[in-house]
Amino acid sequence: MLTCHIIISLIIFTFLLSPLCVLASDSPKDLIEKRCINCHPIATVYDVKKGQDEWGKTIDRMIAYGTNLSKEEREAVIQYLLKRK
Ligand code: HEC
Repeated sequence: MLTCHIIISLIIFTFLLSPLCVLASDSPKDLIEKRCINCHPIATVYDVKKGQDEWGKTIDRMIAYGTNLSKEEREAVIQYLLKRK
């Protein structure tokens, strides 16, 4: 009975805390400013305009060069770059 209580508490705790993890994760802007500046200046990223496919290809090339981006982060960065004016 006690074990059950502990497990249920842990599950509830996990659900209560998960929104905090989303809030704590980097915005696409933060990701670009942290992960796209090791090899070239930020201007290399912000000075060009591309469509969705072109950004996809460019970012895949950057990932091949060694940029650390998860699938979700890659998608978020592409959407951010497309929307920015
Ligand atoms: C591991 C090093 C490295 C990292 C990290 C990196 N790049 Fe690059 N990037 C390069 C190199 C090398 C070039 C020039 C050669 C080329 O264009 O393939 C380049 C060129 C570019 C260009 C200009 C060429 C084009 O196709 O328009 C853009 C835009 C670009 N990078 C975007 C990004 C973005 C966005 C990120 C972060 C998600 C990033 N890069 C992170 C290595 C890197």
